[in-house]
Amino acid sequence: MTLKDKLSQLSTSNGCLLATNFYNFETLSGVLSAAAERDSSVILQLTQGSIEYMGLHTAVSMARSAMQEYGVEAWIHLDHAGSYELVVSCLDVGFDSVMIDYSERTFQENATVTRRVVELAEKYGANVEAELGYVAKLGQSKEKLGFTDPQEAQQFVNETGVHALAVAIGSAHGFYKAEPKLDLDLLREIKRMTQIPLVLHGGSGIPAATLMESIKLGICKINLATEIKDAFMRKLQEVLVENEEIDLRKTFPYAVSSIKDLVSAKLNVVNTGS
Ligand code: 13P
Ligand code: ZN
Ligand code: NA
Repeated sequence: MTLKDKLSQLSTSNGCLLATNFYNFETLSGVLSAAAERDSSVILQLTQGSIEYMGLHTAVSMARSAMQEYGVEAWIHLDHAGSYELVVSCLDVGFDSVMIDYSERTFQENATVTRRVVELAEKYGANVEAELGYVAKLGQSKEKLGFTDPQEAQQFVNETGVHALAVAIGSAHGFYKAEPKLDLDLLREIKRMTQIPLVLHGGSGIPAATLMESIKLGICKINLATEIKDAFMRKLQEVLVENEEIDLRKTFPYAVSSIKDLVSAKLNVVNTGS
């Protein structure tokens, strides 16, 4: 099934998919082994930075082969694309889904580029996500947060035909200083006005109960990145100070298994909330 169809199905049944970023073979295999064990589908996300790190073809072919090897239903998604050109390259190599992120531009600039991407993606049968309002990026002040306006969201969806919409309701990328409070009434209102699958960015650090409530109110895709990097690097550091092993094939599996445990727990939350 295409991701576009899957998300629209989930949108009517109050279901949700976990979307995890991956950075290398180890983070990819940690995610996929958790998904295989829980018999869950997942979205595998690449940012421009991760594409530059691994190489576009390497990243995509590795993800495609790995999902088959693990027997997991998964889709490859471009996370936070800042340009139309990057979207074109990714659709050309077979991405199932793309996010065009003009959330820091004006409403009209955002709507215009999103409309173009939706038209292009049509030819590939790909899913398109855009962001309206502003979810703070890593290292940026959370003060910059601009919440999504429901009326604007409705207009944006009508003008662009976008398939999924990332909403700003109080989450932020990275960890939080204090427990995040999501504006769930605002979420309910955005869902009522748009009736499309909504996406929650900044998944790291949000308590399980809040994630589950957000799924009930229309979130169909939850993005998780920082906790994956954190789990991997912390475990690796811990193992490296404890022993002198130079065979990386004996050391990395500890970090892979901490990703597996993390993602397994998140999948449990998402599946329970669905
Ligand atoms: P976190 O880094 O807070 O998990 O956010 C992930 C995200 O939104 C990726 O697009
Ligand atoms: Zn994001
Ligand atoms: Na976060």
